[in-house]
Amino acid sequence: MINDLWYKNAVFYCLNVGTFLDTNGDGTGDFQGLMRRLDYLHGIGVDAVWLMPFQTSPQRDDGYDVADYYNVDPRYGTLGDFVEFTHAAHSRGMRVIIDLVVNHTSDQHPWFKDARSSPDSPYRDWYVWSKTKPANADQGMVFPGVQDTTWTYDEQAKEYYFHRFYDFQPDLNTANPKVQAEILKIMGFWIQLGVSGFRMDAVPFVIATKGADVTKPVEQFDMLRMFREFLQWRKGDSIILAEANVLPDTDMDYFGSDGDRMQMMFNFQVNQHLFYALAASDGRPLAKALRQTKSRPETAQWAIFLRNHDELDLGRLTDEQREKVFEEFGPEKGMQLYDRGIRRRLAPMLDGDRRRMELAYSLMFTLPGTPVLRYGDEIAMGDDLSLPERNCARTPMQWSNEPQGGFTLGSKPVLPVISGGPYGYETINVAHQRREPESFLNWMERIIRMRKEVPEIGVGDFTVLNMRDPSIFAIRYDWRNNSALFIHNLSGSPKEIVFEAGVEGEEGNVLVDVLDSGHSKADDKGKHRVVIEGYGYRWYRVGGLNYLLKRTDI
Ligand code: NOJ
Repeated sequence: MINDLWYKNAVFYCLNVGTFLDTNGDGTGDFQGLMRRLDYLHGIGVDAVWLMPFQTSPQRDDGYDVADYYNVDPRYGTLGDFVEFTHAAHSRGMRVIIDLVVNHTSDQHPWFKDARSSPDSPYRDWYVWSKTKPANADQGMVFPGVQDTTWTYDEQAKEYYFHRFYDFQPDLNTANPKVQAEILKIMGFWIQLGVSGFRMDAVPFVIATKGADVTKPVEQFDMLRMFREFLQWRKGDSIILAEANVLPDTDMDYFGSDGDRMQMMFNFQVNQHLFYALAASDGRPLAKALRQTKSRPETAQWAIFLRNHDELDLGRLTDEQREKVFEEFGPEKGMQLYDRGIRRRLAPMLDGDRRRMELAYSLMFTLPGTPVLRYGDEIAMGDDLSLPERNCARTPMQWSNEPQGGFTLGSKPVLPVISGGPYGYETINVAHQRREPESFLNWMERIIRMRKEVPEIGVGDFTVLNMRDPSIFAIRYDWRNNSALFIHNLSGSPKEIVFEAGVEGEEGNVLVDVLDSGHSKADDKGKHRVVIEGYGYRWYRVGGLNYLLKRTDI
């Protein structure tokens, strides 16, 4: 049964079709291009591709402003190309999940155009209106500094409409049963075309009560059960991965205490504290975040990530912790965004320091959950801070040192390809790293292979070991008589550590290093003594050298 839950031990890879590979020279990536790169993704070890929005859209928020839920934006290809793509992914044993953006539509969506045209429109009640400007119109903006209000007056409708995000993204009235039915229909459509589930955008807002009289939105969690039930009827193994940056004490409301709501959620709590751990060389707040997010139903799973297509949101840290992360990873105002985060890519944040990048990824791959990679991070791509807001970290994939990084044969890429300097395509590209045995890309491929050989991380129970030195972060997984132990030195200086594996009997006396040959044998008191270099990491299997045989009972 546990192996049927494919998402518990899969490697996810997130990409935007438009910035991956362009085959027709118009400067925008397309499904044909993505298909040509499926073998590349398969080769790295990707199990599931998460596509950011590719439906018809005016593209004012990178596709998160959908104007037709049942079509592919012509820039990227056709529905036919999409089906060819899912088929090609499946034939390589890979799954596809797609963004589902149903908190709001584009203001160019025919539903909104119709809704604003008349109070009698059948779509009027699909959106959220107010005759007068609500008192809290200047509250609850998601993009402070760029967005000034959540209620905008519409000249045509002669009413205010509610928008949690930008003013061109009117919120859908998700309490309306007709809207709910349409959401199911959208899911059913894409499921039928071959996807294995959805990354659901802005879930807390989708299910919140909305309206001029709502002072404190209340989440309607039953809606989540409805989404899941529908999906499971249509395709039993499909999932929803919720984008819900919520406080740990509401996690179970999203997963459902009977495991009847979301299968997966991004672990934002762990993400932020992971960056703090890297910035301050202190793993204690990370350990706390792991404890806070520990409980979840058997079928539920966290998605663990480093950077994504948005800013690194640090809103859940204390002011002092946030300052520390800013100071280390984004000291300049231009690197920060929305008063709460950092908009850079990972590699520049870590000064391109290979040791620190390996450390960060080693953590990502060994924290409890399913790892989600972001395109380009496998070759340590950089950012372009001259681009506005979050676009700085959304530049085209760098394939080779040919013009435009091999992304397009045209001369006008959808966003500029990074050129020159340490992160330019001339230096950082796939073709080059493929040929270099010690490249970051090859390291990534190897670490992913090993991650898959330790499925305990996805399904086991974890314990954070008590270490005297806060810069040493050690976590052990136990699952059906198998144990694996991962140790990280968050500091830049070498550390000698003495510890017990914490596994009963003889087993705990031998630690087999699965990445290297530095096995450890405990002394006669059961203590291990290991020296870890600055920013070093160790992956151990606990037990004798026959550990590979033991794994078969998983
Ligand atoms: C969250 C997405 O990750 C972000 O990119 C987008 O702008 C908002 N939701 C609005 O859809």
